Amino acid sequence: MKDFKEQIASILVQVINMDKEEIEKSIEVPKDEKMGDYAFPCFRLAKTFGKAPNLIAEELKNKIELQNTDIEKVENQGAYINFTLKKEVLAKEVIEEITNKKENYGKQEIGKGQTILVEYSSPNIAKPFHIGHLRTTLIGRALYNIYKTLGYNTIGINHLGDYGTQFGKMIEGYKRWGNEYNLEENPIEKLTDIYVRINALCKEDESVLDVCRDNFKKLEEGDEYCTNLWKKFRDLSLKEFYRIYDLLDISFDSLNGEAFYSDKTDEVIEILEKTGKLVESEGARIIDLEEQKMPPCIVCKSNGSTIYATRDLAAILYRTRTYDFDKCLYVVAYEQNLHFKQIFEVAKLLGIKEKCQKGLEHISYGMVHLKSGKMSTREGNVIKVEELLQEAIERVRKIIEEKNPELTEEEKDDIAKKVGIGAVIYNDLAGSRIKDEIFDWDIILNFNGETGPYIQYTYVRTNSVLKKVQYVPELLEVKLENILDEEAYKVLKLLYTYPETIRNVAEKNEPSILSRYLIELAKTYSSFYNENKIITEEKDIQNARVYLTYLTNQVLKNGAHLLGIEMPEKM
Ligand code: ARG
Repeated sequence: MKDFKEQIASILVQVINMDKEEIEKSIEVPKDEKMGDYAFPCFRLAKTFGKAPNLIAEELKNKIELQNTDIEKVENQGAYINFTLKKEVLAKEVIEEITNKKENYGKQEIGKGQTILVEYSSPNIAKPFHIGHLRTTLIGRALYNIYKTLGYNTIGINHLGDYGTQFGKMIEGYKRWGNEYNLEENPIEKLTDIYVRINALCKEDESVLDVCRDNFKKLEEGDEYCTNLWKKFRDLSLKEFYRIYDLLDISFDSLNGEAFYSDKTDEVIEILEKTGKLVESEGARIIDLEEQKMPPCIVCKSNGSTIYATRDLAAILYRTRTYDFDKCLYVVAYEQNLHFKQIFEVAKLLGIKEKCQKGLEHISYGMVHLKSGKMSTREGNVIKVEELLQEAIERVRKIIEEKNPELTEEEKDDIAKKVGIGAVIYNDLAGSRIKDEIFDWDIILNFNGETGPYIQYTYVRTNSVLKKVQYVPELLEVKLENILDEEAYKVLKLLYTYPETIRNVAEKNEPSILSRYLIELAKTYSSFYNENKIITEEKDIQNARVYLTYLTNQVLKNGAHLLGIEMPEKM
C-alpha cells in the first residue's frame, strides 16, 4: 500500500535540509479535516532559518512541487504546511489492499528476523488469580498478537510463581490437614485456607516454622514426597487457571516459571562472584546499587537460599541463550517497578549480549479499582476473576434475553460469552496502561458507550447490512466517486491508517492505541451509516456504500481479534 507520509517526506526533503526519516516522524495528522490530511510543523526549523515558523511554512510551501505526486494541494496555515491527498488515490489504495488481504490486512513484515519475548500473566500457584493478573494477561496477550502480526518471532511466556519458601509451609499444612479438604473442587480456595492455618501455627510455634523450612530444603533437594505434593499443588492450580485462560482463549508458548530456574541460580551466583561485585551484608549476599540510587539487590539470603530476584536473573541468562532475543518484555504491575530496575541493573553484570541486555523492558501497568465493593469475596477485597468473567457473561445474557428473545438458546449463549468477555477485555485495554482503571459494570456494558459491546454492536450492524443486500459487490463494480463524500471518506481514511496504528501500538507497547482506534472507526462508520441510505434504488451508490460497509466489517474484526475480542454475528 502506498505510504503517503513517506511520499510527503520525499517532497519535503527536497526543500528542507533535514533527514527524511526525521521529517517523516514529525508529520502529523491534523484533528480538523479542513487542515488537510497531513501537516508538517515548522517550529523546529525556526532556529536554523532564523525566522518565525509561520514565515518558514509559507516560504517552503511556495517551493513545493506537486507534479507526479498523490497530493491534491499544499497550503500553509500558521506554522504548518498542510497536505491534502487526492481522495480517489487514497480510496483506491485502501480498497484494493483490504480486498486483497482480507483477514490478513494489517499483517506486516517489519519484525522479520527479530525475536520478542512477551512475559505475561504469571500468577502464583496456590494463590488466587486476582484482577491485577487479569490485566497483565490481557495486555500481554494483545501485545503478543500485535508483535506476531508485525512479523516478529514472538514467544509468550507465563512465568509462573511456583517456587519459594512458602511451599515448605504449604507442604506442612497439607501433611497435617490435607485429609480435611477435597482439593478437587476450588483447590486454590482450599490451599489458601491451609496456608492461612499453617502460617498462624508457625507464628505460635517456632518449631513448626523450622519444619517448614526443612520441607522447602527437601523440595530443593528433590525429595520425592515434597516434590510430589508441590506437583499436585501446581497441577491443581494450573487446572483452575486454565478455566480462566480457556474463557479468554489464551495460550502460552512456555510455562517455565520460577521453579524451572531453581537449579539455574548457582551459575548466576558464580558469574556475579567473578565480577567481584557480590558482597556480604548482614549474612546475605547482595549487589550494591547505591550508585544507581536503589536499595541493594539481594541475591542470596543469609540461610543460603535464593529468592525471586535470583530466579529472575537466572531466567534472563537462560532466555538469552535459548532465544537470543531482541526484546524481552515483562508485563507486570507497577508495584514491581523497583524490582525490575534492580534486576535489569544487575543483568548488566551477567555478561550477556548487549542487544539482549538492552532489550529488557518492564511494561508496567496500573491497578484496578472497583466501583462497588459487591464483587469482593469474604476474604476481603480479593475478586475472583473467574466469577467476574462469569458475571459479565450472565449480565449480557440477561440483556440479550430482553432485547432479542427470538434468538435460539445457542445463539444467546454465544453472544453472551463474546460480548461479556469482550466488555471486560475492552475495559482493561481502553485507557493508557499505566493509569489505574475503574471497574464499573454500568460503564463497561453500555452498548452505546465507548465500550467493547459498542464495537461489537457496530460490527453486527455492518453484518446486517451485508445480510440484507445478500451480496458483496465485485471490486470492479465499485465506483469510487460514490464514497468520497465527507462521511464516507473519513471511514476510508481510518481504514487506511489501520496498519500504522498497529505499528504505533508496538512502538509504545500500548494496546490502548488500538482500542481507541476501533472506537473511532466504529463511531465514524456509525455517522456514515446514520447520514446515508446504504440500500437505495441507485445501484452504483448502493454498491459503493455496501463495499465500504464490507471493508469496515473486515477491519473491525481484524483489530478486535488482536485485542482478544471476538465478534458475534448477531446481537
Ligand atoms: N508471580 C508474580 C506476581 O504474581 C509476577 C511475576 C512477574 N514476572 C517476573 N519475571 N518476575 O506478582
